[in-house]
Amino acid sequence: MPRELTQNRMQKIWIPTKDDKRRAAGAPHFANSPTVIVMVGLPARGKTYISKKLTRYLNWIGIPTKVFNVGEYRREAVKNYSSYDFFKPDNECAVKIRQQCALAALRDVRSYLKDEGGQVAVFDATNTTRERREIILKFGAENSFKIFFIESMCDDPTVIESNIMEVKISCPDYRDCNENDARLDFQRRIECYKASYQPLDPDQHDRDLSFIKVIDVGRRYFVNCIQDHIQSKSVYYLMNIHVQPRTIYLCRHGESTDNLEGRLGGDAGLSPRGRQFSAALARFVEEQQLKDLKVWTSQLCRSIQTAEHVGVPYEQWKSLNEIDAGVCEEMTCDEMKEKYPDEFALRDKDKYYYRYPAGESYQDLVQRLEPVIMELERQENVLVICHQAVMRCLLAYFLDKSADEMPYLRCPLHTVLKLTPVAYGCKVESIFLNVEAVNTHRDRPEVSFCLPLQT
Ligand code: SIN
Repeated sequence: MPRELTQNRMQKIWIPTKDDKRRAAGAPHFANSPTVIVMVGLPARGKTYISKKLTRYLNWIGIPTKVFNVGEYRREAVKNYSSYDFFKPDNECAVKIRQQCALAALRDVRSYLKDEGGQVAVFDATNTTRERREIILKFGAENSFKIFFIESMCDDPTVIESNIMEVKISCPDYRDCNENDARLDFQRRIECYKASYQPLDPDQHDRDLSFIKVIDVGRRYFVNCIQDHIQSKSVYYLMNIHVQPRTIYLCRHGESTDNLEGRLGGDAGLSPRGRQFSAALARFVEEQQLKDLKVWTSQLCRSIQTAEHVGVPYEQWKSLNEIDAGVCEEMTCDEMKEKYPDEFALRDKDKYYYRYPAGESYQDLVQRLEPVIMELERQENVLVICHQAVMRCLLAYFLDKSADEMPYLRCPLHTVLKLTPVAYGCKVESIFLNVEAVNTHRDRPEVSFCLPLQT
């Protein structure tokens, strides 16, 4: 949440030297320092969408990341938004407030990266002037943070209009305003920024900075001075995502004969009810009437048999195989508890990080699934027929669930989860296909810690 703002304290403007810029962009002695990703662009260019989506991805791959949205700080400072007048460049009082909001957000960025374990902070604001970006570069240099800019540029009026209609008119600024007035006010707000907008200049002024320009919603990109793994991962991710409407369906294979006995892993085939589910899944897919549906399975028998019944071409991914339970493969929970009681207790203590002996952890699984997520981002309609732990990891990505919640997400057999992207998130519908199956879910155990008495 925005911190309290310091009133009327104007900052001296600092002009960074070439050295400062190089340091902030991530010279070698900054190798392990945290990163501030700085959004740049006019309003309604998808900056918040990119900020939230990239943050979700970085968190999912294990890089603690948080968005700092300057608009929220402004709403906290000025409770009642009146009109676009607030954004006029000659509105001196408002300019001061906006500057203070940006500085308050930067202070919180610093706390997050220095004291709260954050590795990446996404500074979501327009940052359209060189002067503002230089304040941020100075902030980066003073705190040994790397600065990476993401500029979103788009002049397509249809894209801008649909962005305004989809997310802007419903934002808290326009709570008591009708749709048309909100739309007009927002368009005027954009005009207020246009006169002073200075895009990043790769040829001269900003040639030493690290940045990506995303042009026309990903039709083209311009990438400059990428310095490290986080920046290169962010660039790769941004170059794979798209905003076309589509649906992703996630389900597990039909019930297997191992499921009937409560066994972990293995490579068993379908039970009779598992085969009924495959037939029901085939009918469900037909009813959805999807254009160019892709079907993906793992390389395990139960997933392939389920897809065979669906009767459409499918692609097998080894990465979609179930978590490898190592020495516990094909054991029941009771057998594991009896043979490996310590392992069983360790798994209950921290299920995300727990790795089966000679097997995998959920954390390993997320790494294995990263190429699947990247390809899902590239595709349109896809049905993924996978396994319990794999489905939990994929679902956690789409629903922005933490590592702690992930291993306990409910992904029952014979139920399809239909995921549809909406505004800044994802709508999820759970569709049970009316074929009974065993319950393989195990709730988070209530752990009681017995501390030894101090003597
Ligand atoms: C806002 O106040 O909504 C945006 C602040 C900015 O210009 O970044």
